[in-house]
Amino acid sequence: MSYEPNDKPTFYFIGVTTAGSSIMKLFPLWAEALGLDARIKGIDLPIHADPQAYREAVSFIKNDPLALGALVTTHKIDLYRAAGDLFDELDPYATMFEELSSIYKKGGRLLGAAKDPVSGGLAMEAFIPERFWSRGGEALVMGAGGSALAIASYLTKKEHGANVPAKIVITNRSRPRLDSARRLLGKLDAKTEFEYRLCPEPADNDRALRELPSHSLVVNATGLGKDRPGSPLTDDAVFPEGCLVWELNYRGDLTFKRQAEAQRSRRGLHVEDGWVYFLHGWTQVIQDVFDLEIDRDTFSQLEEIAMSLQTGRAGKERGQ
Ligand SMILES: NC(=O)c1ccc[n+]([C@@H]2O[C@H](COP(=O)([O-])OP(=O)(O)OC[C@H]3O[C@@H](n4cnc5c(N)ncnc54)[C@H](OP(=O)(O)O)[C@@H]3O)[C@@H](O)[C@H]2O)c1
Repeated sequence: MSYEPNDKPTFYFIGVTTAGSSIMKLFPLWAEALGLDARIKGIDLPIHADPQAYREAVSFIKNDPLALGALVTTHKIDLYRAAGDLFDELDPYATMFEELSSIYKKGGRLLGAAKDPVSGGLAMEAFIPERFWSRGGEALVMGAGGSALAIASYLTKKEHGANVPAKIVITNRSRPRLDSARRLLGKLDAKTEFEYRLCPEPADNDRALRELPSHSLVVNATGLGKDRPGSPLTDDAVFPEGCLVWELNYRGDLTFKRQAEAQRSRRGLHVEDGWVYFLHGWTQVIQDVFDLEIDRDTFSQLEEIAMSLQTGRAGKERGQ
């Protein structure tokens, strides 16, 4: 990828298929509402890209005075590993979980932060009922990437007291991410039991789902259904009664979400997509990059703008 020096203040979005994202249309509207003088540009990199590609992207942002910063999705772990040393400072979440989603500058220094534990937490607070875990449910998180780490750390937060899942099962199709999740989540001072399960085939995830008690949380954190087509489950998978089902994305074929919706009324499921997560993810990074505070009222205003854009696109896909 070649990078041209900017002639305008520019906020970057590092992802896989950034042009299809709602943020491309939404950011200019948000920028106007917030009084920001900046445009947004996408940087598309293939999944598990060459480390050099991450170093080039970060070096470019670091050295171009008009590159203000970036939101990173999907590449959070790979970018941290390949280019973490290019940052002048990383926040405690980024250092603890070895991933980052926010790149910004302060006083000429390049800073990196992991926002998912905050934005994922805010998104979960919006749909997980109070005292949900008192019914003995567990959490099954399919995919052991950056989002899975954030979700697990939020769910086991000390301030939740006894209101935590009885167990968190994390699955991944290949071994390396599973091993690093075990190592990184092992740093948490949490009472919750963790299980790390190699699930190379969707039928393996079906089995993990079948073993869950009712009133559990089931998360598709694999990117399947957006970054790649399909679902981590087969069409034969059966959701336990009363589960909360969370698809982290909201564009793409969303096969996993459709599989859950097909069982929604029969199994009493609550099915949630990644829209609210998307709004919190972006507003958290915008606060870093533009050094501003988005309070509750401003968030509601930005949510309304986003909703009006969605309504205008009724029937079409939404997307990060
Ligand atoms: N709505 C939002 O605002 C929002 C926010 C955060 C994330 N997301 C989305 O959530 C998804 C996950 O994000 P991430 O940053 O955690 O991505 P990531 O770091 O790429 O992690 C995805 C993980 O899923 C694993 N995986 C792939 N197929 C699998 C399968 N069939 N069964 C089990 N595991 C499988 C991958 O394994 P390998 O290591 O073998 O490749 C990888 O470890 C992305 O699509 C991202 O766009 C959305």
